Amino acid sequence: MPSPGDRPPAGLAVKCVLVGREGLRHCSRVDLTTPTSEPAGRQRRPIREGLGFFGRFLRSPTTVGAVLPSSRYLSRALVGRLDLAPGELVVEYGPGTGPATAAARDVLPKGAQYLGIELEPRFHKLLTERFPTMQFHLGSAADVKQILADRNLPRPRRILSGLPFASLPPAVQDAVIDGIVWSLRGTDGDFRTFQYVHAYGLRAARRFRALMQERFSGFERIGPVVRNVPPAFVLRYWGAK
Ligand SMILES: C[S@@+](CC[C@H](N)C(=O)[O-])C[C@H]1O[C@@H](n2cnc3c(N)ncnc32)[C@H](O)[C@@H]1O
Repeated sequence: MPSPGDRPPAGLAVKCVLVGREGLRHCSRVDLTTPTSEPAGRQRRPIREGLGFFGRFLRSPTTVGAVLPSSRYLSRALVGRLDLAPGELVVEYGPGTGPATAAARDVLPKGAQYLGIELEPRFHKLLTERFPTMQFHLGSAADVKQILADRNLPRPRRILSGLPFASLPPAVQDAVIDGIVWSLRGTDGDFRTFQYVHAYGLRAARRFRALMQERFSGFERIGPVVRNVPPAFVLRYWGAK
């Protein structure tokens, strides 16, 4: 939870009035008031997409790490407000079938850039078809430095992550965290992710939070977002050391 001494997070100073209505039991500093431009019919996740996601989970449980894509409530809580200037970049790790990508697209300021990094070729293909105007890289978030250099992109100001940290091997966790710190150090940018409530106390989840707390001066936990299967906390880190 935010402590009184923490500096206000960039772009997230507004209290989350709508969050409670959308499934948060408790929260702070998330502005979900920006309406989605997606028509109501398209907001329902197609059953086919959920089944496809589940199929990927069965094939690669530790990489996919979830049986269903995130709900739009969790996705909006994760993305919040982006508040990027023209040219600034938001990177999404592990977009999967794209629920948070859709939320990010809806609040991406004009002229700001987006890059999704997805390891699963099927998800990568689906993303490029579903979001033809957005950029996606097929590869690992652990290689963010090289990926940005190859694409001539700046260091991101925001990183959104759907990676299943709790089920990733420690060496991959370490490499991803190094990349996040490298990206955000010396900036007022932040990293946003989620952890499922039922897995919050697991050793790998605690290990991830302990490592992040060593490397970042600011942390807040939002939620749980209960309108998601399973319910999840959103975690936000800033002040990379
Ligand atoms: C829990 S799913 C989340 C998918 C989506 N963000 C959502 O919320 O529904 C995790 C995603 O991370 C991807 N992933 C796992 N390891 C990765 C890595 N090292 N780099 C990039 N993506 C990765 C998986 O393929 C999967 O799409």
